[in-house]
Amino acid sequence: MVLMNGKIVPAAKGRVSILTHGFSYGTGCFEGIRGYWNPDTEDIYLFRVREHFERLHRSCRILNMALPYTPDELVQQAVELVRQNNWHENIYLRPMVYKADEIIGVKLHDLRDHYYMIAVPMGDYVSTKGLECCVSSWRRIDDNAVPARAKVTGGYVNSALAKTEANRNGFGEAIMLNADGHVSEGSGENLFLVMNGELHTPGATENILLGITRDTVMKLAQREMGRITRERVIDRTELYIADEMFMCGTGAQIAPVISVDHRPVGTGTLGPISSEMQTLYADVVRGRRPEYFEWLTPIYKPLPVAATNGNLLNIEVSEVID
Ligand SMILES: Cc1ncc(COP(=O)(O)O)c(C=O)c1O
Repeated sequence: MVLMNGKIVPAAKGRVSILTHGFSYGTGCFEGIRGYWNPDTEDIYLFRVREHFERLHRSCRILNMALPYTPDELVQQAVELVRQNNWHENIYLRPMVYKADEIIGVKLHDLRDHYYMIAVPMGDYVSTKGLECCVSSWRRIDDNAVPARAKVTGGYVNSALAKTEANRNGFGEAIMLNADGHVSEGSGENLFLVMNGELHTPGATENILLGITRDTVMKLAQREMGRITRERVIDRTELYIADEMFMCGTGAQIAPVISVDHRPVGTGTLGPISSEMQTLYADVVRGRRPEYFEWLTPIYKPLPVAATNGNLLNIEVSEVID
């Protein structure tokens, strides 16, 4: 079953015409949301699903799109879609808003917007056992060209070029630099460096997608490890001297990086802070840490109300350095 414009219909009805504007011009925006199966409680937990729909709304604002459902309504639709598919494993949700008119002509205005969502089973997206990365020869798209802040379908050509180059050259993932040569992010992941026990990550204006996993990592680092994150401009050669490094994203989860451009990161094996973050994240998303229940949306039965309800969003996590 899939969701088309607010209605759940058989997947066979989830078809769009080859003339669709979003298909021709990349005028769509989307989200990627994971749901984790917990075999002990026999339930699936959608992770920070509301925040994903809030970001979808922000992407729509940038792309001049109308999404006629509130984030809460979208959450309800997501839960219902997973229920109707009766999934009992790890899943991935892909909501998409796109320009639906079947016309020739590049623009964003005076076009109809359609919305769909699918829910499919999903395993690992990249290796979580140690990624070998390269600095891409492709530069990250700029906010004044194709804004990375919005999760725009067309913008993923940039990611695809970088990813294919990296894979064909024998690397697991690409790290893209901005036009000015500073570090931005991976093809589908944000990047963290560990230096002297602190976390460092490119700031919000470095042409990154402001990741929900990135935010989760900063909050877990603060709450669970007492470690601050410095959001700052990062040079390419800092990638070669960091003690540890990891990528993170809904798809990638927490993926430690063990080398960059054939230079080992730290000892060239999984570092202690990356490993700790990986374990912590895996427990939180599967509902093994009740303090973080407010980040979870169960599919089949309610969770006990979290003791921290409403507090997690307000943790002071980082120092922004201009
Ligand atoms: C380019 C890019 N950066 C970062 C991320 C991580 O974002 P999130 O943690 O919200 O999944 C993604 C994931 O979709 C991405 O595509």
